[in-house]
Amino acid sequence: MRLIELAIVDYVVVGAGVAGLRAAIALAMSARGRWRPRIWVLAKDSLAESNTRYAQGGIAAALSDEDTVYFHLQDTLQAGAGLSDPEMARILVEEGVRRVEELIEWGAVFDRTGGRLVFTLEGAHSRRRVLHAGGDATGQEIVRVLMQKAQSLPAIEFHADAFTMDLTVTDDGRCGGLLVLMGPSPPRLVHVRCRGVVLATGGSGRIFRYTTNPPFATADGLGLAFRADLPFQDMEFFQFHPTALNVPGAPHFLLTEALRGEGAWVVNAAGERFLFRHDPRGELAPRDIVARAMFLEIQQTGTPVCLDTSPLGESFARERFPRVAQVCAQFGLTLGRDRIPVVPAAHYYMGGIRTDAWGRTGLPGLYAAGEVACNGVHGANRLASNSLLDGLVFGARAGQALWEDTEGIPMRTKFPALPASYQKPPPAELPSEPPPFPDLAWKHCGLVRTETGLKTALEHLSEWLRTWPYPVPVRWVMEALNAMQTLYLLAGFAYLRQESRGAHYREDCPAERPEWRRHQVFRPSELARLGIGS
Ligand code: SIN
Repeated sequence: MRLIELAIVDYVVVGAGVAGLRAAIALAMSARGRWRPRIWVLAKDSLAESNTRYAQGGIAAALSDEDTVYFHLQDTLQAGAGLSDPEMARILVEEGVRRVEELIEWGAVFDRTGGRLVFTLEGAHSRRRVLHAGGDATGQEIVRVLMQKAQSLPAIEFHADAFTMDLTVTDDGRCGGLLVLMGPSPPRLVHVRCRGVVLATGGSGRIFRYTTNPPFATADGLGLAFRADLPFQDMEFFQFHPTALNVPGAPHFLLTEALRGEGAWVVNAAGERFLFRHDPRGELAPRDIVARAMFLEIQQTGTPVCLDTSPLGESFARERFPRVAQVCAQFGLTLGRDRIPVVPAAHYYMGGIRTDAWGRTGLPGLYAAGEVACNGVHGANRLASNSLLDGLVFGARAGQALWEDTEGIPMRTKFPALPASYQKPPPAELPSEPPPFPDLAWKHCGLVRTETGLKTALEHLSEWLRTWPYPVPVRWVMEALNAMQTLYLLAGFAYLRQESRGAHYREDCPAERPEWRRHQVFRPSELARLGIGS
């Protein structure tokens, strides 16, 4: 493959959502007054697009008078089904308070009444602690403020339409750069040399047929970490959001959990609030319990499930959830009056590239933060509205650690060798479309799994991966590869975990087992050595 350009900068942050922006800000602010590094922030689409932008419900932080970080910690640990790492969770809730206050100092406008912040309730929270902005546009407000802050720091340069294909590694085993497809079509392939990288590529929902995530959430960071054979953790734990819009022809638009927090009910075709048969907390049980109960109800009755929004009333619903109300109206549904058809859909990956508390991965010089990373904070099931907080807290930590770990160490300008596969010519012909992996994932790796189903998934994925072209400087081909490699990990980890816990439910071993109260950590090569998928 022919490289067109070389570039040298100090640091690269891949992703312009909450974690990436906060990491870039931390890097630039750490350097201030010493020297001005060149920090590139890469976004694969426009700078306005990231998973963060679509976050509705809010950001959890123990800031209300009735709350404490202790209560927030307890709720986080309990939702995590025994696998949420207590030290990571402590960092999240303690530092989260400061990170949110800082966001307010930088200009974030969270909803208030009479000048005081208002907090909503969501599933598995024992207190009202979820801040929101513009009613249901919290992610958009957070990105606006972080982008404004980052753009005020001269060290940071933004590049839109920059799709990262792979990492490059120096002779002494450090992450030394990236291979990036830059610019709109036709893109140039650029080898970027740098002293360190923060991966903050966000979500992976598009590996499944039904997801709340936007089309670009294709597991890109996980795919390139797969090809670098990094250690992954907890890859069997993928969260399904209980309430995605379920109207023929409509996208699976997220209907925020805050709707239930404010009083909406989940009902079956007979109008029964059936969730109480599964958990005394009903609509406000943890997400894994609610989503699975809904899935089973739909499966067993063959009829749809709805979110009855009438308890909210039309005028409150319109004012409190303007964006959701607008989308519902497009499909002839009135929020605050109607029963809205809903279905669980893939939402958030608890698992990811294994990191320590500072975002350090298994490859020196490579850091990861936000949804692509896993330090165990969310365990087997993330507490609602802890994800934006995770991006802020651990994004800031990753940026700071990258600065501190590399400060004063000169960067050698020699470019690392390209991965061996880049030496060969690209394939003459490309497939016309990806294999049907999203359907396979939905069927065998979704809310209810079995050993046989996972084995079937692994067999198909192994075959598809064996023949899928790589490397190809074409974004959709690489996105499909990223998604399939990620799914292979998901299925492999899920196959090995012979119990049910949190978001991972195995019909053939439905109980939680004490001996499985542990994380699974594997490099892709280790899974392959175990014979997974072969
Ligand atoms: C929601 O608003 O329900 C999504 C927020 C989250 O995933 O925590």
